[in-house]
Amino acid sequence: MTSVKLLSVCMCLAACLHTLLAQDTSLIDELFSWISKNGGVINAEVRINKDGVRGLFATERIPKLGLIASIPAACMINVGSQSQSASTHIMHVLREYKLGNNSRFWPYIKTWPKYHEMATECNMDDKYVPMWKSDHFPERPAPSISLMSSDSSSPAIPLPATHDHGSGAAAMLPPWTSCREANHQTWQGFLRRIWDGSANRELEYTIEEVVGKDVEVTLADVKYAAAITVSRYLAVHGRPRLMMAPIFDLANHDNHCTTYLESYVKSDYLHMKAGVDYEPGDEICYSYGDLRDDYAVSAYGFLPALEDPPRLAYVDHPGFEPRGAYRAPSDDRIAGPPEALRAEVQRLAAIRARITGTPDIVPRAEGEDWVWDMMKQLEARRIAAIDYELARIAELLAEATGDAREL
Ligand SMILES: *[C@@H]1O[C@H](CO)[C@@H](O)[C@H](O)[C@H]1NC(C)=O
Repeated sequence: MTSVKLLSVCMCLAACLHTLLAQDTSLIDELFSWISKNGGVINAEVRINKDGVRGLFATERIPKLGLIASIPAACMINVGSQSQSASTHIMHVLREYKLGNNSRFWPYIKTWPKYHEMATECNMDDKYVPMWKSDHFPERPAPSISLMSSDSSSPAIPLPATHDHGSGAAAMLPPWTSCREANHQTWQGFLRRIWDGSANRELEYTIEEVVGKDVEVTLADVKYAAAITVSRYLAVHGRPRLMMAPIFDLANHDNHCTTYLESYVKSDYLHMKAGVDYEPGDEICYSYGDLRDDYAVSAYGFLPALEDPPRLAYVDHPGFEPRGAYRAPSDDRIAGPPEALRAEVQRLAAIRARITGTPDIVPRAEGEDWVWDMMKQLEARRIAAIDYELARIAELLAEATGDAREL
């Protein structure tokens, strides 16, 4: 079980390799000692894994349900309640970030990736938008600000799924907001309105209210705070708050990972626990949910480990809902009847033609352009997944009709 798990541990591909490597591991030492000074426990260390990527590794034997880390309340940034608007959560992070080394969270803040090391829907450069090669990415209508605040059409931040690990424990996943998939322009329009003050009347907190008027806040600062917040905060079971907790975010994502965060009700510590037995030196994973490749790129700015067999991207899946919150689409593959199979072939072929027929109008920058590389990898994965599905359906049709030349 453990070795199977390790094979599937997230290998952040070349696109984000340099990003993680670039992060200074000496900052990690400071983070760890700050957490222990505050009463926390970490039975893990940060190392570069076999794929050259930074990851979290067990320093001792940790049995299933055993403690990986205990994060004290004093080391977590409480960014507001789950019913508050996204802007409020972002403002809490913006304030701490702008305080710099005057923030008591500085040892944590220092370990966050830098602006250019992230490319989520909140901060990805607009120039990459054509690289989505899909209507659903750039052309979704922008929500009004009030959509983001607490009226009835507010995007729900559902509590993460609860998995019972036999001890009343709960799996903790970052909440999904709606308006996330494929709409980073929408997000960025929203962030611009927070930044230029035009949304002030509708916000729970304005920038001046959180940082004062003498602190210069750039649009990039707001995008940065947003990218950090919505890719890292956690819905906490047992307490309707959203928390930014160090340590768990150092573990690489794996769709199937069973590491979990225990319900935050028994004490003022957030306990990160093992879903499998770990031996010393094993890499510890964490799951941000069942992420399809395009959603992982849009929401988190990375491509998860390559899957075999490939799964369709979220936007290419028959169950894709352009306007809904992200829900991991079903893994059940279409099985018939023949008319449905033929319709699916047509649908997928049209998407494929759209991707391959859209020229690369975005030039790759000289030298390093990891975002461009990531987007091209995503494109190749979308095509590979469509081809796999087309071949699979062709076989089904051939079986159903007894004619191998059906297609
Ligand atoms: C705190 O940050 C300021 C501004 O970035 C810097 O000039 C100063 O040296 C820092 N102080 C310490 C103790 O790191």
